[in-house]
Amino acid sequence: MALKGLEGLGRPHYRGAEAYLYVIEWLGRKAVLKLRIPKRYRHPILDKRLRWRRTANEARAILAAIRAGVNAPAIYYVDPVAGVIVMEYIEAVSLYEVIEKEPEAAEQYARRLGEAVGILHGKGISHGDLTTSNVLARDGDVYLIDFGLASLKSSEREQAVDVHLYLRSLESTHPEHVDTMLEAFLEGYRSVRGEAMAEKVMRLVHEIRLMGRYREERRTAWYQEE
Ligand SMILES: Nc1ncnc2c1ncn2[C@@H]1O[C@H](COP(=O)(O)OP(=O)(O)OP(=O)(O)O)[C@@H](O)[C@H]1O
Ligand SMILES: [Mg+2]
Repeated sequence: MALKGLEGLGRPHYRGAEAYLYVIEWLGRKAVLKLRIPKRYRHPILDKRLRWRRTANEARAILAAIRAGVNAPAIYYVDPVAGVIVMEYIEAVSLYEVIEKEPEAAEQYARRLGEAVGILHGKGISHGDLTTSNVLARDGDVYLIDFGLASLKSSEREQAVDVHLYLRSLESTHPEHVDTMLEAFLEGYRSVRGEAMAEKVMRLVHEIRLMGRYREERRTAWYQEE
């Protein structure tokens, strides 16, 4: 079945920063259609390329994650030119919501997430946007989504950025759970990557955070000068 037109989709169920998501039926299954939308502020040619690239990249990275043994939605259909991916609908809640509603349960999911990210990194895959909204939780297991910024040949620094983004999303939304959620994540991560590798990545995370703070300070100083 090919996608003839996107007109019949109706109102999106979710409007993200760069995509609309629709819950649809695909060959009799509940599915999610992710449509990357044009951005007026980008040059049309650049915009088309960017949507094409992120769509293809996301589909490729999801397949690589599944092949590595990490839970991610099955891919049903991809049309990079239209900026469309149709994927399995994961009946789950986000890790963000779990922390909000039952923080006691969130810890075990953080450990599972650490294992999953450890497996990805071990295969050279970085996620690129590892926030608690991009992790879905169900029956003690986690599913990763939103791979548009993933890299299949990631450097250790890119892998450290994953951990940094996870940490930052916790700090900005659930500051009171940062410590337990990071510790549980690291337990899982260490169990897969080993003590030495985890230590190396955490040193880079530390560096990235110092740089960020430095930049923040300079920016503040700059504003004050004006
Ligand atoms: N396969 C899926 N199954 C169930 N829900 C999904 C699935 N994919 C996405 N979602 C839901 O839709 C939301 C947005 O999806 P996604 O993060 O891929 O898009 P996005 O445009 O990058 O959004 P944002 O800019 O908010 O990160 C997710 O946070 C999740 O709640
Ligand atoms: Mg997202």
